[in-house]
Parts: sequence; structure tokens; C-alpha cells
Amino acid sequence: MKTRSFTIVKPNAVAAGNTGRILEMLAAAGFTVRALKMVCFSRNDAYRFYADHIGKTFFGELVEFMTSGPSVVAVVEREDAVTALRQLVGATDPAKAAEGTIRRLYGESLTRNAVHASDSDGHAQREWSQWFTPDEIMEAEYHFKEA
Ligand code: CMP
Repeated sequence: MKTRSFTIVKPNAVAAGNTGRILEMLAAAGFTVRALKMVCFSRNDAYRFYADHIGKTFFGELVEFMTSGPSVVAVVEREDAVTALRQLVGATDPAKAAEGTIRRLYGESLTRNAVHASDSDGHAQREWSQWFTPDEIMEAEYHFKEA
């Protein structure tokens, strides 16, 4: 069954000009983009998005990084989207990510790991809801209206 996941092209990957290459990798892996935009995380956005990590040793560094420049957020769709996206993205630590994964190619460190991918269907929905209203997410049946 086709499902959806949520991804972020993080500030280091956007700044390095890798957004297009990452979107191409998503398309090549069979993902359809249902919503896409460039955003700047505020500190509030980062605290809300990464609320589960508040208090961890890396949280401060994570907030500094995520607020350091623009990110690109997207809702993507495919068969078994959450699992497939996590495979394409690779392990959290780019040094441990498999060859050919996005983090292996474009990640620099645990914090500057190029992309985020949701870890469950429930988290995916919660995460994309922070960035997209329901009518910003394109449905498969969507057709542009005549002008
Ligand atoms: P992400 O998948 O976006 O979710 C939480 C982020 O915290 C993670 O990617 C990493 O960028 C960042 N992070 C930094 N240090 C660690 C760590 N030691 N363990 C897990 N995540 C970390």
C-alpha cells in the first residue's frame, strides 16, 4: 500500500547545493513528492520538531544547526514509504551509513547528517503537520483546474 513519510533536507545539504541531487535520489527510488517547501527553522520550530530529544547531550548542537540556515521539507509517497525512506537515507551517523545512501554521500557528522526521515507512520504525520496544512499536500487525484 502506498503510504507517506516526511523528510527534511537539512541546512548543510541545502547550503552545499545538494537539494536537487537528493530530490533526484528520492524520485529514482520511486517516491512521489506530495508537498515541498523551503523553510527556516526558528528555535521554537526546532524545539517542537525535536521535542523527544530535549535534554539529550546533543540537543543544543542540534538546535544551533537546524536554525543555522534554510531547510527543505517534503512529504513523499511510495509503497511502504517510512521503511523505504529510512533505507535510502541510511544510518543516523553518516560514517556508519551504507554505501550509496543519502547520509553516506552528503552527511558530514551525526548532527550535520544532511537529511531527516520519519521513523514511523505516526511520527511522519505529526512531523509534516508542523510544516504543511492538509490543503498544501497534493492528492493523487489532484488535477489543475482550467484558468
Ligand atoms: P534526525 O534523524 O533528524 O533525528 C535527530 C537528530 O539528532 C539526528 O538526525 C542527528 O542529526 C542528531 N544527533 C546528533 N547527535 C546524535 C546522537 N548522538 N544520536 C542521535 N542523533 C544525534
